[in-house]
Amino acid sequence: PPVDIFDYIVFGATGDLTMRKLLPALYYRYRDGQIPDQARIIGTARSPLSRADFQARAEKALQNFVKPADLDPDLARRFLALVHYVSLNGAEAGSNWPGLKDLLAEAPADRIRVYYLATAPDLYGRICENLSTQGLVTDQSRVVLEKPIGTDLASADEINDGVGRFFPENHIFRIDHYLGKETVQAVIALRFANPVFERLWSSDAIDYIQITAAETVGVEGRGPYYDKSGAMRDMIQNHLLQVLCLVAMDPPGSLEADSLRNEKLKVLRALRPITPEDVAVSTVRARYGAGEMGGKPVPGYLDDLGENAVSNTETFVAIRAQVDTWRWGNVPFYLRSGKRMAQKSSEIVIQFKTTPWSIFPEKPAANRLVIRIQPDEGVMLTVSTKDPTPTDSVALRQADINIAFEKAFATRYPDAYERLLLDVVRGDPVLFIRRDEVEAAWRWADPILQGWAENKSPLETYPAGSWGPDAARALLAERGHRWHEDMV
Ligand code: BG6
Repeated sequence: PPVDIFDYIVFGATGDLTMRKLLPALYYRYRDGQIPDQARIIGTARSPLSRADFQARAEKALQNFVKPADLDPDLARRFLALVHYVSLNGAEAGSNWPGLKDLLAEAPADRIRVYYLATAPDLYGRICENLSTQGLVTDQSRVVLEKPIGTDLASADEINDGVGRFFPENHIFRIDHYLGKETVQAVIALRFANPVFERLWSSDAIDYIQITAAETVGVEGRGPYYDKSGAMRDMIQNHLLQVLCLVAMDPPGSLEADSLRNEKLKVLRALRPITPEDVAVSTVRARYGAGEMGGKPVPGYLDDLGENAVSNTETFVAIRAQVDTWRWGNVPFYLRSGKRMAQKSSEIVIQFKTTPWSIFPEKPAANRLVIRIQPDEGVMLTVSTKDPTPTDSVALRQADINIAFEKAFATRYPDAYERLLLDVVRGDPVLFIRRDEVEAAWRWADPILQGWAENKSPLETYPAGSWGPDAARALLAERGHRWHEDMV
């Protein structure tokens, strides 16, 4: 069903995120009849563009980032008619606020307003203050905060305080686009709709768990941001920890937002601290050097940054995390993310324990459940069965029970932003991050970052196009474990 009529006001609208993700996502939902024709998408940024200029940029964004088969010229024209632009520096009180005010005043005062902040996060507080001073924060107003929310606990607190002075917590939507991914939400369905899994979901039956988000891209044009961030702040502190929460949490009482978020918070708070002294044993950090991708040579990270670049930033992280609860005992959660890796693949691997005793000539291999977040979304359970080739004994062979979602359900897998953008209009925060979650995540990440900053573990290198440094393999080998690509 269509959502209520809304005004979506994007700060930082000329940026990459708006073009690459927000506009295409809104187009798809418009195409599906979920966005009413009276809705408006109002871009704001400092550039002195006319509405027509911005519409032309938006059109280009659709051409570049919507699948050609899904781009209908007539529909695109109607969609672009929803798009407006106000040249405004949201962080400055004396900027063109009247321009935005007048445009918003053309709609009824009780229309839903979404202020989407896609600027540098240290401006969020000032933008909210200006919105408030200008009388633009109505009862129907919500604010969306893009990551990164800070670079550590202290800066996150500052941003959250700055925004919290002008918006109540239940009107603040902190985006983690991994939660918008269909297959990440499928973890909840898989676990809590299938007793066959949940009854085994603990240290009783599970040996270890891996959560990987591997990318083939390098830092592209994002060097200045990325080099200040690194894989820990860019991927682990938010996306991978959120996935870990869904894998590790206890069953929530309901799918109501706080019920789910309370359970996630318990997991974050149960993460065993990794102190600066522990980083050498529990973490691996590395950056890519020159290598090969798809048969072509590619430069290393420092060359990607530019001439004479100096950097101590990691583009790869592997961590052995522990969730200190009754359920998880000593089950390691291996988290891993990297740029310029062998393959684009985000997945969760649940490695079960082997049989306590074997009646077969060889010990049966452990069962393995793989949840493929992307690409090739699906679920696969590896089982042992009888080898059908004729022999005189019962030999075993491994085989996969494999569901490819796109094929099984004959449906398009939407981009994560499609769901999330309209959830804000609906006022449903279930897939957004509560303030205490952000804080708990930083509380765990901070001492690791501190240990690295103090060089308590070396910055390794790996060739672009590989699965990361040898040290990442060694991190698992210490416990007799292996990464998925090394399991045959
Ligand atoms: C973003 C990071 O949050 O997630 C990027 O800033 C990363 O560096 C991206 O490439 C990965 O998202 P996805 O959806 O492609 O896995």
